[in-house]
Amino acid sequence: MADRTPLDGTFYERAAGLYDLVATAPGVRSWRVRAVDALDLSPGDTVVEMGCGTGANIPYLREQVGTEGRVIGVDLAGAMLRQAQARTERAGWENVSVVRGDATTPPVGTADALLATFVVGMLEDSTEAVETWLQCVGAGGRLALLNAGRSPRPAAMPLNLCLRLFVRLAAPGNRLRRRSPLRALEERWRRAREALFSETVDHREQRLGAGLVSLVSGRVPE
Ligand SMILES: C[S@@+](CC[C@H](N)C(=O)[O-])C[C@H]1O[C@@H](n2cnc3c(N)ncnc32)[C@H](O)[C@@H]1O
Repeated sequence: MADRTPLDGTFYERAAGLYDLVATAPGVRSWRVRAVDALDLSPGDTVVEMGCGTGANIPYLREQVGTEGRVIGVDLAGAMLRQAQARTERAGWENVSVVRGDATTPPVGTADALLATFVVGMLEDSTEAVETWLQCVGAGGRLALLNAGRSPRPAAMPLNLCLRLFVRLAAPGNRLRRRSPLRALEERWRRAREALFSETVDHREQRLGAGLVSLVSGRVPE
């Protein structure tokens, strides 16, 4: 892969350490546990995480697949991946690997399950990404998506404001900035969710974090 990527110069390349602090905060951790639970993993499974970032989900994925399973994280931002690699090395997980690559053309083979948290909103064609990921897991495999968007609850207005600021700070490229980055993110999420719901069975959906975070999952039919 070429060294230059669309994420060069973005928040994810410049502030991976700061991102990791937020990504591993106690409230956020509980969303990650729920997202991993939604995959119905078993010991020995192979699970891929697209846009794994600093590897904040890896401990929970690793716990579910055990020492016999495999966890593969994919991300485009070198700075984020370095944090994920350091986390893996510190813990001594030999069955975890992190790979630099584009989640829309995944550099991985088949898996039992696939996770993407706070990622689909960044992908221009989120429908196609979900369809590609469903092919990675194949029949019987499970896909779970977690994403943030504005909460409809009146009490969550301050949280909505924080989210708007974060998305504006983190959104890559000027193309996205022409419209509201948060609206673009929500539209991409809507399309990803729709693709997951139309192509899978055994759906589950939850709203977490005062309605700010959505978790959807489904299984590819046998
Ligand atoms: C908001 S962060 C989420 C990171 C992690 N999933 C988490 O839950 O903390 C979005 C991540 O997606 C990655 N990303 C964005 N577009 C990508 C792409 N096309 N391929 C791979 N990774 C991508 C970014 O580098 C960043 O690490």
